[in-house]
Amino acid sequence: MSSNTSAQAAPDSHIDTTAAISYWNSCDPSVTGMLGGFPQVSRIDLQQSTTFLAKLRRTSKSHPTSTPLSRIVDCGAGIGRITLGLLSKVSSITDIVEPVQKFTNQISEGHEFKELREAGKIGEIYNVGLEAWEPEHTYDVIWIQWCLGQCTDSQVNALFTRLQKHLSPGGWIVLKENLSNNHLGEDVYDETDSSVTRTDEKFRALFKEAGLKIVSTELQRGFPKDLYPVRIYAAQPEA
Ligand SMILES: C[S@@+](CC[C@H](N)C(=O)[O-])C[C@H]1O[C@@H](n2cnc3c(N)ncnc32)[C@H](O)[C@@H]1O
Repeated sequence: MSSNTSAQAAPDSHIDTTAAISYWNSCDPSVTGMLGGFPQVSRIDLQQSTTFLAKLRRTSKSHPTSTPLSRIVDCGAGIGRITLGLLSKVSSITDIVEPVQKFTNQISEGHEFKELREAGKIGEIYNVGLEAWEPEHTYDVIWIQWCLGQCTDSQVNALFTRLQKHLSPGGWIVLKENLSNNHLGEDVYDETDSSVTRTDEKFRALFKEAGLKIVSTELQRGFPKDLYPVRIYAAQPEA
């Protein structure tokens, strides 16, 4: 499964979950902390994601834009930036999966989320990594953004396989991640947060191997040129 063709260890074999969680615990619970010092990309990220999801729903019989979605989950949610800026606006309930409690405290206690909490729009908060998360509900959208690099390829395969059973008919897994632009076309291990940045080819292979087909995908536009390219994918079960 690794894109590494040499005898070297596969990049994802270096992922150390304890080191990753310790890194994230040292980060500020703010948009700047979530986005590696580039808070200015949040608005443009949310704008394109909002349009991407609206386009998916425009041609959907099960989840048309005219009706709110029932339940969405924000995976690796951090301080709930995407829940606040997008997911809670289109869904009756948003669940949260995020292993770092100081981040989810912003959602369960922060003033920015007060209205959403009082309106019953924040559902379950699971303080667990995606590799260990066992979904209990059915979701119209499972949103995974800028956190899958913390999981190994085999954990991603198991996750994708598990998640499909928790999608409502016509629902989507939406994945938005940095892409490796390594000159050898390989995934890249980053020891800062003990994560892997994958190639587009690897993401496509991971979806396929888990029995998911990509129904729509786009590159993020308008980000600073010195950042990794970012791609959003929407996938559904093959059968
Ligand atoms: C770059 S931040 C992105 C947060 C949020 N998705 C956003 O776009 O604002 C990465 C998040 O992944 C979380 N994370 C770390 N390890 C994880 C794991 N194993 N499973 C899920 N999330 C994880 C971190 O705690 C952090 O909140």
